[in-house]
Amino acid sequence: MAEPLVSIADLKVHFTVGRTMFSPGTVVRAVDGVSFDVGRGEVLGLVGESGSGKTTLGRSILRLVEPTSGSVRFEGEEVTTLPPSRLKRLRSRMQIIFQDPYASLNPRMSVGQTLSEALELHAIGTRADRAERVGDLLEQVGLPRAVAQRFPHEFSGGQRQRIGIARALAVNPGFIVADEPVSALDVSIQAQIINLLQDLRQELGLSILFIGHDLSVIEFLCDRVVVLYLGRIMETATAADLYANPRHPYTRALLDAAPVPDPRKRRERITLKGDLPSPSAPPSGCVFRTRCPFAIAACAETVPPLETVGARHQVACIRAGELDLTE
Ligand SMILES: Nc1ncnc2c1ncn2[C@@H]1O[C@H](COP(=O)(O)OP(=O)(O)OP(=O)(O)O)[C@@H](O)[C@H]1O
Ligand code: SF4
Ligand SMILES: [Mg+2]
Repeated sequence: MAEPLVSIADLKVHFTVGRTMFSPGTVVRAVDGVSFDVGRGEVLGLVGESGSGKTTLGRSILRLVEPTSGSVRFEGEEVTTLPPSRLKRLRSRMQIIFQDPYASLNPRMSVGQTLSEALELHAIGTRADRAERVGDLLEQVGLPRAVAQRFPHEFSGGQRQRIGIARALAVNPGFIVADEPVSALDVSIQAQIINLLQDLRQELGLSILFIGHDLSVIEFLCDRVVVLYLGRIMETATAADLYANPRHPYTRALLDAAPVPDPRKRRERITLKGDLPSPSAPPSGCVFRTRCPFAIAACAETVPPLETVGARHQVACIRAGELDLTE
């Protein structure tokens, strides 16, 4: 099998908060031992409730947050130990798209200047080439070339996200982390941006880690999905398999929370009660057990390993073999 583009092994990102002269502080286990691959040209969805560690995980792959331990390999090269002088080159191969493009665009720079700056930073092209390339990038994301003269406040949310995408594409990356790129947009605009990502992915052969809440968007865009809870993978499968045959109670609960056309057809839904436990004091054993309707005493004792239950389908639940969570 071809080598994956991105390969993550036992990645941990822990933050120490509240450390003082008199206290060692508290360790927040935002990402706690995550392993997965992203294939070339693959779109991998990353889902989980707010606070499950999605952003931290996405940012740590690009070293925008420093991993605590574990490995991130990109095209076979270890990223976690790259010296700072090599990070710039890494960022020309991996890029990020943010949820709020307005916050990430400089309001005092025209769109053309923002895109040129990205090209200049990575020494792409001459000055004349860059003007041409800025126009091409704008067209590629469905904006007229002439908008290069305009400033961020002159655009709608959807247009600003297109500019954010153009900036990410400026350096010709092979891999993009898209951190909830449509969550802040109106529903009608969301579809346009998703279609744009779908087109770009096909045109450019991009690999994307797509972080999202909305499971219908994930199903449309993603080949495979990773379900994260308290910094750990609960389940991973191809999108089609995950939706048709979820094996982890947490995945079932996320699917049940999504709107369906006719809820009467459903068996009893699993509703998530209470809040996500604190990642600084995760439950023993299975971290989902405090909210799992199927928890038994044994669930508190050992951390369930991620076990293979089908082709490209893995689940971390000691009762996965006996539960029927299909519709
Ligand atoms: N710099 C930091 N210092 C301390 N704790 C942090 C830091 N960054 C994130 N956390 C904590 O790590 C956990 C995971 O946060 P993260 O933002 O990665 O979650 P998320 O899944 O992206 O959530 P959301 O869906 O709300 O964006 C949270 O408990 C958060 O408070
Ligand atoms: S291991 Fe136990 S608590 Fe965890 S998901 Fe499975 S049944 Fe629920
Ligand atoms: Mg986030």
